[in-house]
Amino acid sequence: MKISVIGAGNVGSLAAMRIAGDGLGDVLLIDIAKGLAHGKALDLEDARAILKYNYNIKGSDDIRQIRDSDIIVITAGLARKPGMSREELLSKNAQILKEVCLNIKELAKQAIVIVVTNPLDIMTFYALKITGFKPEKVFGMGISLDTARFANLIAKELAIPVTDVEALVIGAHGEAMLPLPRFTKIKGVLLDEFIDEKKEELLVSRTINRGAEIVESLGSGSAFFAPSAAISAIVRAIVKDEKRTIGLCSYLNGEYGIKNTCIGVPCRIGKNGIEKVIELDLTKEELARLVKSSDLVASAQAQLA
Ligand code: NAI
Ligand code: 2OP
Repeated sequence: MKISVIGAGNVGSLAAMRIAGDGLGDVLLIDIAKGLAHGKALDLEDARAILKYNYNIKGSDDIRQIRDSDIIVITAGLARKPGMSREELLSKNAQILKEVCLNIKELAKQAIVIVVTNPLDIMTFYALKITGFKPEKVFGMGISLDTARFANLIAKELAIPVTDVEALVIGAHGEAMLPLPRFTKIKGVLLDEFIDEKKEELLVSRTINRGAEIVESLGSGSAFFAPSAAISAIVRAIVKDEKRTIGLCSYLNGEYGIKNTCIGVPCRIGKNGIEKVIELDLTKEELARLVKSSDLVASAQAQLA
């Protein structure tokens, strides 16, 4: 299995480390910056003797090396600066993504493509459009990270293990995301049995702001530890054909009454990519918020040539 990670910055290099270290395949790290991916791959390779584990990792600034990749993770692009929204990255990252996707289309026609570059939902739609691949093979990582953040904040609030929390977030990977307390359970018991509505609202808004909170604190760049973990979980689900349900930014063609937009929803995922978009039984109000979230993405999509 050949797994290429395009963009050897914070997220890409850590994702490559996790994917290689988990033995999910032969990893190729690509970056436009001369020597960067090669140097990081050498460094990652040196760790093998200490870890006593024989993974394969290479790095290059030549994107043509992605030829015949089975899975491609796109992390190439600018990250947020303090005060910047993910949407402000749109025009610059769209140029980068277009160039990358044209190469994928030419060199790796069979690949499953996981988009990470922000603004995530818009970039996922753009990647789908440029590659012309089937929607089940091009999707984005965003709400699985948001779900992990929601679960973490709940676990901390209740002082319980995070593994006891089954959280759910849908919608755009941005301010319009929808953490859903109504679908969130602690070992099968609904969240609202543990906390009142006010606390719930606070946890929801902290989840929505978590990325920005991290950006503010870092001073430059955005989160990378949890994002890289979220990427490697998706890669694992594909490589191992796990049939797990994971929140992914997926193209919708009528599901939830939404058409021709990419938005975060739970998906069953296996060796061929998305096998099923799961349709939750949303209330009218939740559905209206999801549609609003997808309308914002759709209007931004329209700006892309
Ligand atoms: P970074 O700045 O550390 O790395 C980005 C890398 O992309 C740089 O090394 C740069 O040289 C490279 N690059 C730029 N143009 C390229 C091209 N044409 N071909 C190959 N490489 C190219 O940024 P970081 O922190 O790794 O974030 C990457 C992207 O991922 C950003 O857009 C960020 O907003 C997004 N992100 C998305 C998350 C999500 O949940 N979807 C989570 C975290 C970050
Ligand atoms: C995050 O949520 C920047 O999208 C990235 O941390």
